[in-house]
Amino acid sequence: MTRPLRFGLIGCGFFAQNHLHAWAQMPEVELVATCDIDTGCADAAAQAFGGTAYADAAELLARGDLDFVDIATTPPTHRMMVELAAEAGVPAICQKPLAWDMDDAKAMVAAMADRGLPFMVHENFRFQYPMRRVKEVLDSGAIGRPFFARISFRSDFDVYANQPWCKDAERMIIADVSVHQFDLTRFFLGEPTRLFTEALRVNPEIRGEDVATVLLQLDDATCIVDTSYESRSDHSTYPQTFVTIEGTDGRVTLGPDYHLQVVSGGDVHEEVLRIPQHSWSSEPWDCIQDSVVNVQRHWVDCLTTGRTPETSGADTLRVLDLTLGAYESLETGLPYSVGRRL
Ligand SMILES: NC(=O)c1ccc[n+]([C@@H]2O[C@H](COP(=O)([O-])OP(=O)(O)OC[C@H]3O[C@@H](n4cnc5c(N)ncnc54)[C@H](O)[C@@H]3O)[C@@H](O)[C@H]2O)c1
Repeated sequence: MTRPLRFGLIGCGFFAQNHLHAWAQMPEVELVATCDIDTGCADAAAQAFGGTAYADAAELLARGDLDFVDIATTPPTHRMMVELAAEAGVPAICQKPLAWDMDDAKAMVAAMADRGLPFMVHENFRFQYPMRRVKEVLDSGAIGRPFFARISFRSDFDVYANQPWCKDAERMIIADVSVHQFDLTRFFLGEPTRLFTEALRVNPEIRGEDVATVLLQLDDATCIVDTSYESRSDHSTYPQTFVTIEGTDGRVTLGPDYHLQVVSGGDVHEEVLRIPQHSWSSEPWDCIQDSVVNVQRHWVDCLTTGRTPETSGADTLRVLDLTLGAYESLETGLPYSVGRRL
């Protein structure tokens, strides 16, 4: 039997707790180092999950025995972390968004590619079980050729309690959530060619936008991505994403509480999807938590087989182009020609 892959985790904050639990259930990997500038966080993670705690990422990467590093810090530090990993010759998986700037993102992708190092972005929405099921329906041909989609994420959940940085971010919900929906658009339909954005700030206590609608045009389909942190409802569906895709022969709908409906020709199939559960997962996060397991399994699978990850650094440049283009459209009031920054 081959030995487990040794890895370090940099950034032991809010979302990294999911990473830690998911890694802990994978016998293929061994956590040997944790790192956080908040040493209490690094210590707590090391005590609960193993490894040596560091305050300095460069020190962690200088160990010389890492098979990969998992970067779960906030975006402003991602470039520095990825470049450190590249210099140390260590493959890296980095949380989304890779960067807020295309030059930074390209530099990160180049730093890893120049050394031939595997590099993946932890973009987990396409790895959610319901999204995989929707994709299976599309790939089966049950609804024919898709020509319209709506990918919707709307709630009034208090995200600021767990992610206080969202309050101060100049660019908020598009960079934090629509980014996932852009990746889902690509996953389901392919590459958009043009987009147009409208957005609002509804909560007066935050700095950026908290409601956004983006119209994406593809060669032969149209997709609406709509995102809101200010939408009241009869019950909370956070953090669920709703999907409707219409095709030439039918329609697939993923509605509230994971109701999947497939209309195919004259047939209607209805199902309430059961999200795979883990000892550490709990509602309402279970779907996201399970997707973290799927992301990390995919990364280990790619590392051991040499396959390119679905959400490689290079692939993710396209998501960043859509994200930056969405803000450009908002600022100029004009459509953005997708790919201009690539
Ligand atoms: N994929 C998802 O569904 C999802 C959900 C939430 C957050 N995220 C992403 O996860 C990342 C982290 O977000 P979060 O909400 O957990 O943030 P957080 O602030 O809770 O955690 C980040 C941690 O990184 C540490 N850190 C910052 N600079 C560092 C440095 N130079 N060296 C070492 N440690 C450092 C901080 O001390 C903190 O503990 C972001 O990129 C965010 O977009 C993804």
